[in-house]
Amino acid sequence: MRKQIAAANWKMNLTLHQGEKLLKDITGAGLQLKPNHQAIFAVPFPYLIMAKNAVSKTANMEIAAQNCYSKKSGAYTGEVSAEMLQSINIEYCVVGHSERREYFNETNSILAEKVNLCLQNNITPIFCCGEPLEVREAGNQNQYVKVQLEESLYHLDKEQIQKIVIAYEPIWAIGTGKTATTAQAQEIHQYIRTVLADKYGRDCANEISILYGGSVKATNAKEIFEAEDVDGGLVGGASLVADDFIQIIQALKS
Ligand code: PGA
Repeated sequence: MRKQIAAANWKMNLTLHQGEKLLKDITGAGLQLKPNHQAIFAVPFPYLIMAKNAVSKTANMEIAAQNCYSKKSGAYTGEVSAEMLQSINIEYCVVGHSERREYFNETNSILAEKVNLCLQNNITPIFCCGEPLEVREAGNQNQYVKVQLEESLYHLDKEQIQKIVIAYEPIWAIGTGKTATTAQAQEIHQYIRTVLADKYGRDCANEISILYGGSVKATNAKEIFEAEDVDGGLVGGASLVADDFIQIIQALKS
């Protein structure tokens, strides 16, 4: 049974104190996550150790980095390696968020390197894909996302691909208040699963969690997550408010 995941992406928000309070409010809410449910918090690098400690006593809550560098180690001032993340017991890392692709020129081939380094260090990549508005308006979103998957993930073998979490995030829905409809989300999630099944087989594709991201809120999460091929969400703005994110975790389907 594939995991249903509510992943918080704090992006470059919150002070240390605010982050601590947010995690305290969420872990203190008495949530009982089902065995196949998971809440993951992708926090800024300086907060990783604090966050890891904050969730350590709560079952099925995990911490993710928001990024890592595409090289193993060396003279790359200011960067953070997958090996460093592993050394502080971080088990997830967001890879290829559209903001990284857009503002930091991360290409599909750079992201393939990041995926490899994560896997080599036992870190599960939360691999983001998704199309810009003009691609959606031209009706080419499926092809666009397929190329992203092919160029960053298709070198992986069956065992490796099963360690990946995919987050489909249409760029036009991120931070805009505009969500894909449940039907739009289901359509492309099903397409992504079919593409994975063509390459890796149906059983393998059925085990891969595909999250939806883009203006998921406490008020719309349940409806979106109910779609058969939507296995939870990657949530930006609404993950910064404890009550909202708690409701989003509770909206995961069983
Ligand atoms: P949003 O961000 O929920 O604020 O739209 C989602 C994301 O960028 O992961």
